[in-house]
Amino acid sequence: MSERGQAGAGSAVEKRFLAPFRGQTLDVPPIWLMRQAGRYLPEYRATRAEAGSFLKLCYNPKLAAEVTLQPIRRFGFDAAILFADILIVPDALGQGVRFEEGEGPRLDPVRSVADLGRLDLKGTSEKFDIIAETVQRLRQDLPRETALIGFCGAPWTVATYMVQGQGSADQAEARLWAYRDPEGFDQLIDLLTAASIDYLDRQVKAGADCLQIFDTWAGSLPDDEFDRWVVAPTRTIREALKDMHPDIPVIGFPRGAGATAVWYVSETGVNGIGCDTATPPFVMSEAFDEEDVVIQGNLDPLLLVAGGARLDERVDEILDLMRDKRFIFNLGHGIVPQTPPEHVARLVERVRGKS
Ligand code: CP3
Repeated sequence: MSERGQAGAGSAVEKRFLAPFRGQTLDVPPIWLMRQAGRYLPEYRATRAEAGSFLKLCYNPKLAAEVTLQPIRRFGFDAAILFADILIVPDALGQGVRFEEGEGPRLDPVRSVADLGRLDLKGTSEKFDIIAETVQRLRQDLPRETALIGFCGAPWTVATYMVQGQGSADQAEARLWAYRDPEGFDQLIDLLTAASIDYLDRQVKAGADCLQIFDTWAGSLPDDEFDRWVVAPTRTIREALKDMHPDIPVIGFPRGAGATAVWYVSETGVNGIGCDTATPPFVMSEAFDEEDVVIQGNLDPLLLVAGGARLDERVDEILDLMRDKRFIFNLGHGIVPQTPPEHVARLVERVRGKS
């Protein structure tokens, strides 16, 4: 079924990144990296300082487009990812998100159905429109061969921040609400599902070629709750998007899902699966028929920090194991700020076979 060879000018798929989703196997897999725009790049730090704060950067379409383009200029990745954050959705719903310098996000927690009264789905348009404007600018400014990935956080992961009021190691407050009052918690998940569908629809209308749903904390739930709070809302989002935009692929990233990642793919209908560092892409691909799903991942972000011979070896190993598969090279989680940009350049060269 698969066509072989490089997709490029003159071939069926103009953007190499999209080729695996169209059933093609490339000799050199497409590559992009989660958090490819960020603090490890001096030019990012300069633009962020110009914007004044992280959230001001997210809500400044000109500067947000600029930081999205920075890693494309430097490394020529096959895809750009819209610069924004998963917490734009609660911010637009009216929860009020703050990023404390060096401490991560802070929100006034929502912990009950009564607290949901503070949130308003109808009030989201103004902020969603700003993000859509960033997408429109990128559509204009990106090289023709570079795909543009839009994204949102999965309802479960976004809820963990909304309920905790900040990041946490165990997502305890969201899990406790979900266990004690599942019907009430459902209302928060339903609200986030509706907001996410609208948000992603706007991103596609503005020019996104592909979407990724980040479920960073999918691994904190046991199977029944995983099904209810991770799989079901993701399936709802995937189906709504498919009805509106049948050709736009959706990649799921259920980080930490372990064995349930296989079930996540078949039950949600995502077109691509992001493998975290502990989920071998080869094992995931063996779980599916060739036509089912594109595999993405999964180099350890800390190996990219360490660099050296072990980095080269591991990159080669992943490439060997995934040869002849529909595969996108990525990390198993986001780039960390201490990553030397030279290591990223070396990785891209290695994947493209120039070293
Ligand atoms: O380059 C890209 O990948 C696009 C932009 C992007 C950001 N965050 C920018 C960002 C994307 C796709 C995200 C997703 C995101 N945001 C996730 C899911 C993926 C993951 O990493 O697990 C989560 C959980 C968040 C929430 C979030 N945003 C946290 C917890 C933090 C603080 C921790 C940290 O890394 O500082 C952020 C801040 C954030 N989002 C930064 C960036 C570049 C750093 C902010 C800064 O410049 O100070």
